[in-house]
Amino acid sequence: MELPDGAFQASDDDLSSVAADSWSVRSEYGSVLDADELVRQAESVIETTGAQDSYSSCKDEEESLQSVLGLQSHWNSTYADELNNFYAHGDRGEIWFGESVTDTVARWTARLCAATSTGTPFNPADGPLPAPSDLTGWSVLDVGTGNGVFLHAFYRLGFTDLTGIDYSEGAIELAIAIAQRNGLADIKFLVDDLLETNLKEQYRLVTDKGTLDAIGLHPEGQSRRLLYWKSISQLVAPGGILASRDLFFLVVTSCNKTKDELVNEATNAADDFKFEYMDHIRSYPTFRFAGVEGSRVSTVAFLRKA
Ligand SMILES: C[S@@+](CC[C@H](N)C(=O)[O-])C[C@H]1O[C@@H](n2cnc3c(N)ncnc32)[C@H](O)[C@@H]1O
Repeated sequence: MELPDGAFQASDDDLSSVAADSWSVRSEYGSVLDADELVRQAESVIETTGAQDSYSSCKDEEESLQSVLGLQSHWNSTYADELNNFYAHGDRGEIWFGESVTDTVARWTARLCAATSTGTPFNPADGPLPAPSDLTGWSVLDVGTGNGVFLHAFYRLGFTDLTGIDYSEGAIELAIAIAQRNGLADIKFLVDDLLETNLKEQYRLVTDKGTLDAIGLHPEGQSRRLLYWKSISQLVAPGGILASRDLFFLVVTSCNKTKDELVNEATNAADDFKFEYMDHIRSYPTFRFAGVEGSRVSTVAFLRKA
């Protein structure tokens, strides 16, 4: 593929995950975007490589949105609109990072769950999907679930104990309405602020798709990210060591942090943090820019240590 000088080069494998910041939509707690030209080049490569599905939500984040995405008032008004659309047209609303990433994360996570249960080495990108019966014992909590559609992908794979929380009442009303329409009323949806959670249960698997990103975009994003890790460590059941078969873990998908940044944040940000890197998705499309290669979306699994 011929690209203009200085444009992003797409490549097939994710060697370093260095990268969400290799193109300019990445935010640093509301910092300024890079040159518009870089965005145009990135978008042009994404279109050319067919990767736009993965990035459809992130690429629209204009500078003006970078702090409002951290505000509950933004989400309340977003879900009020999405509810209206759902009731008027049956539209289920935004799928963050697109359907392809959503399915990839669910399948990868299902393989990871099955691999940990059987003590087989982690290689969740390969091999057949586990039998649904291998997944029924996993209690799953999706934090910042929005319309809850991420959990549908887990349900289709065989997970049965599924709960989604969101601090926006409109999101939860929408999630319940969509699940009922799709015959998935067994999925539980609750209004809950993750940073001041009222949940008393602990879960074997906690998932986050885009929520840490949103929390980090609050004007006080840095301190809220610390609160996030404290809350999450209460919600994921204490696990064991990597060699154990009885593991409990967290899967975070982000478009604002690279895999290495997420690992650094989860494992080093405070002494009492309880997470250890397990694995990350390597199959997302990657880009090369200024000698740096990596993927625009990062998905990382963390073990909750005992
Ligand atoms: C980028 S959206 C992602 C929605 C959903 N996870 C998905 O993948 O479609 C971020 C979501 O996090 C929710 N959220 C942000 N901060 C939250 C908090 N402190 N507690 C609960 N939900 C929160 C927002 O209401 C919004 O639904």
